[in-house]
Amino acid sequence: MMKKAILIAVAAVMLPSALLAEDKAAIMKDMKAQEEAMAAIQKGLLYGSKEGVADGIKALKAANKIATLKDNLVDYLPKEKKALHKTALKEGELVNKYADEMQKKLEKGSYSEAFAAYGKVLNSCNTCHLIIRNWK
Ligand code: HEC
Repeated sequence: MMKKAILIAVAAVMLPSALLAEDKAAIMKDMKAQEEAMAAIQKGLLYGSKEGVADGIKALKAANKIATLKDNLVDYLPKEKKALHKTALKEGELVNKYADEMQKKLEKGSYSEAFAAYGKVLNSCNTCHLIIRNWK
């Protein structure tokens, strides 16, 4: 009887962490896709390929699912960083905002402004990573 109660208690504790592991695997997949999209965008900018940049921006936005996590994002933060989850979420949303800005500058034909927007996207990636890097 006692054993059963302990097993149930253990299962109850394990369940959320099992769910988290699944979410984390999905996030890592999205992050890898975002990294590949950023590399494609940089290549497009350096080679002067508007099409390459536009494709990269589409892929980046499709892979950026952080914003859809909304309040669940807080579950991924280490205890001492939980208070920063709104900042982390904001950076995830800024990635899309600056990606749109990049697209607009490109349509305008300004590579220098598109490059500047690329830098802003990268800065948002980095700002969130600084917050969550001990999130393992
Ligand atoms: C809202 C926060 C947030 C934003 C914004 C964000 N990331 Fe991440 N990123 C994470 C988390 C969480 C991890 C996993 C934990 C870790 O690596 O410390 C991660 C990990 C990664 C990794 C390592 C993946 C692995 O398999 O080790 C790459 C690459 C990455 N991100 C790329 C990006 C790129 C590129 C951007 C911007 C376009 C970006 N990230 C924006 C939160 C974020």
